[in-house]
Amino acid sequence: MSTSNTPLRTIELFAGVGGFHLGLNKCNKDEECIYEVVWSNQWEPSTKKQHASEVYQACFPGTKHTNEDIAKVIEEDFEQIPEHDLLVGGFPCQDYSVARTLSKAEGLRGKKGVLWWSIYDILDKKGKKAPSYLMLENVDRLLKSPAKQRGRDFAIMLSSLNELGYIVEWRVINAADYGMPQRRRRVYIMAYKKGTGIYKNIKKFKDPSEWLSGDGVMNRAFPMKLEKDIKEPFVIKGDLADISENHEDYNPKKSPFDTVGIMIDGKSYSAKGIPQYNEDEALHDTHYKTLGDVLVDDKEVPEEFYLKGDMEKWEYMKGSKKEERTTSAGYTYCYSEGAMVFPDALDNASRTIVTGEGGSTPSRFKHVVKTKKGLRRLTPVELERLNMFPDNHTNKLDCTAAKRAFFMGNALVVGIVEGLGKSLKEKIDLLK
Ligand SMILES: C[S@@+](CC[C@H](N)C(=O)[O-])C[C@H]1O[C@@H](n2cnc3c(N)ncnc32)[C@H](O)[C@@H]1O
Repeated sequence: MSTSNTPLRTIELFAGVGGFHLGLNKCNKDEECIYEVVWSNQWEPSTKKQHASEVYQACFPGTKHTNEDIAKVIEEDFEQIPEHDLLVGGFPCQDYSVARTLSKAEGLRGKKGVLWWSIYDILDKKGKKAPSYLMLENVDRLLKSPAKQRGRDFAIMLSSLNELGYIVEWRVINAADYGMPQRRRRVYIMAYKKGTGIYKNIKKFKDPSEWLSGDGVMNRAFPMKLEKDIKEPFVIKGDLADISENHEDYNPKKSPFDTVGIMIDGKSYSAKGIPQYNEDEALHDTHYKTLGDVLVDDKEVPEEFYLKGDMEKWEYMKGSKKEERTTSAGYTYCYSEGAMVFPDALDNASRTIVTGEGGSTPSRFKHVVKTKKGLRRLTPVELERLNMFPDNHTNKLDCTAAKRAFFMGNALVVGIVEGLGKSLKEKIDLLK
């Protein structure tokens, strides 16, 4: 383990273009490096050209980086993953269920290609040298998926981390609730290993709400009040295969995991969190606050970003509709949706950036702003600012504007990682 003067050695998985790396760098001070990313991995399975990995390497030339399927690295070259204190990564919400194998020696195995199991494998294979801390990001749907057994996947994740000796804390954070310029709701998950000061400290609490809505790591950075007292924990019962089977604890109506929670020894304590933001006490940068704040001068915006022609199509896509549609199987149904704000409001945080944000074809979800010169889409720099990335972070190599928009749709709001990173370090030092 690193001491207070040595940096926390960090590995970044599913690194994309480095949102975690940027957030952790913001915790570093001139006189003290707090987090050092010592190894990173990024591989895009759907394309031959590895743009995100190339951008990452161009932005962080001093960081060891591999551009290979993480499952392959674990299987064929595990030794290259260095010892580390903190593991970070944003990974997709997939089916985490496990099947009971016929041979006991093979144990329980999740489906191939499910990235959660790569994280698990690293922790498991590192054994005693597994990292003390984890910081993960996912879509908030993770807490209630799959639809037929709400919360089952998260229970599998919690149960497997419990087995490896971690206390796990989570919190759904909407960046805009804390003065950041994008409405982006994601679940952040932090885990603390047995033996750490934080683990021991949490174990002392009779009522886990004291940590969750008091002095806990996540609450210190992103304070929330709990909607109600947590009376009884939800006990995660059985092994991973038991949880995967159609168990009555995970019914289609309601997940046992609410937006703020903690799992200690297989018991989950959770409740709905209500954000309590105080700008003066924020640990993160709040430089940009609204969509209007991130806009560049019209003079810097190339013509291609202005809407030309196709206005009817834009209005149709953004508008409310109720119409008959027919599926490919010939089934006819009534489709309806409400109107989007069009153009987007400048005096509010923006809507969430999605991966299809780039390109000129009219779309319901692309942002459109009205400036003195007319209606236009957002430029790559403006999208970077909505995620609190530095300007032109992704303006590397031959990346097109659409590619850069795709990166930002996949990325995270850097200020969240900054807040969590600062709070984690404070707590580690306090409980040494
Ligand atoms: C949600 S994005 C993470 C984005 C990142 N946090 C950022 O700030 O840019 C997940 C990333 O995992 C990568 N990925 C998917 N499958 C992978 C695999 N098998 N091995 C390594 N990386 C993978 C994707 O290409 C994608 O960039």
